[in-house]
Amino acid sequence: MKFHIETWGCQMNDHDSEKLAGLLLKEGYESVDTVEEADVVILNTCSIREKAVHKVYTELGYLREMKQQRPLLIGVTGCLAQQEKDALFKRAPHIDFVLGTMALQQLPKLVEEALAGHRRVIDTEDYPDNHLFPPEVTQRRSKAKALVTIMEGCDHACTYCVVPTTRGQERSRPVDDILAEVRLMVAQGFREIELLGQNVNSYRGGCSFAELLERVSEVDGVEWLRFTTSHPMNFTRELAQTLVSNPKVAPFLHLPVQSGSNAVLRRMLRGYTVEEYLERLGYLGEGRARFAISTDIIVGFPGETDEDFEATMQLVEQVQFDTSFSFIYSPRPGTPALRLKDDIPHAVKLARLTRLQRRQTEITLASHQRIVGQELEVRIESQGPTDHGYWMARTGQWQNVHLVAGEGRQLPFGGLTRARINYAGPHFLGAELV
Ligand code: 5AD
Ligand code: SF4
Repeated sequence: MKFHIETWGCQMNDHDSEKLAGLLLKEGYESVDTVEEADVVILNTCSIREKAVHKVYTELGYLREMKQQRPLLIGVTGCLAQQEKDALFKRAPHIDFVLGTMALQQLPKLVEEALAGHRRVIDTEDYPDNHLFPPEVTQRRSKAKALVTIMEGCDHACTYCVVPTTRGQERSRPVDDILAEVRLMVAQGFREIELLGQNVNSYRGGCSFAELLERVSEVDGVEWLRFTTSHPMNFTRELAQTLVSNPKVAPFLHLPVQSGSNAVLRRMLRGYTVEEYLERLGYLGEGRARFAISTDIIVGFPGETDEDFEATMQLVEQVQFDTSFSFIYSPRPGTPALRLKDDIPHAVKLARLTRLQRRQTEITLASHQRIVGQELEVRIESQGPTDHGYWMARTGQWQNVHLVAGEGRQLPFGGLTRARINYAGPHFLGAELV
């Protein structure tokens, strides 16, 4: 039997797909790269915004046609599966099984039942050991960076967000468990580790998140340490101190602000003001200059006035985020913000988003231009799509680098190498080997 997994959404979902693939490989299934070759197709879905959900239903439409022509098992997992549960079968009766985000290890059982001819197989229970997934089973896709779960779920209650519903309550993995996985990763050749959780800085698995970073960085062989994603409310002085003082922590901080208006932040139930957000960034002190700061911003949240949006633009000017990810507010089922009137015309939301993204592109380009001429350590991630001797790499600050190595030259995946940055665009840097 051959399986194929399609993944949408965040790193958490990418990593879940690595776990799901590992489970099926262990049972003797074969992994294939395309839907066309597969007997079992699994859609690992995201439901953070309507657009993400739309993509899943489009793919399901395509699979329905394929299933009319040949035997094919279709499974849906991820956040849309957890949110919709068996309602998915009504919407798309050609789905064979639905697997929730907190029941990953049940996958082989579900596939087996579906193969045996059972219809509408489903498990969306919350298994208390979901976050204790056996690391040796995980089938890692990147050769450069190992993703390691440290916690799952989210106890915040941002009014726009589906994640508390789709990923459940916070559960932290014990420190020793995490350290054992990191050691295993290093033994397998990984030098870069990314710690994952919906809210890593509220980690409570036996020590603080700052301490966890210290302990992981002490594992022999770890060169770069990253984490995603964090909440400003849980961003402590202790954590900031660790970030700037520990040389293994890559100089990149993603700290979603969501809005530059206190009135909007209040309606989002973010739990901080703009002033408090800035104060927390300030905890980085002089070390901040070394860090790339990235953020998420939602525009067009219910009731966002022109003045509220101007406050967001002002914040962007003030902080000069190196990158930002910005989105139009998307009403989500079951979220408290549904009770607020989604009162801003789409054209206005779009105009705000466009203005914000244009300005961000200029700021990002300027921040990239400041790097031109520098010699940096970069990590080799993959070979370029053509055979012209260029490679894809990342800086510590997470910028994409197109590295010219010369035709025929082989570079080690996952290895660090020195590069001279000689070009800056808004989306990537150009570099040559030193
Ligand atoms: N609409 C638009 N953007 C959203 N995000 C989360 N929920 C929504 C929503 N309902 C954005 C936030 C979050 C990022 C992952 O997605 O900015 O930080
Ligand atoms: Fe999408 Fe959020 Fe689920 Fe990640 S946790 S897959 S971003 S809805």
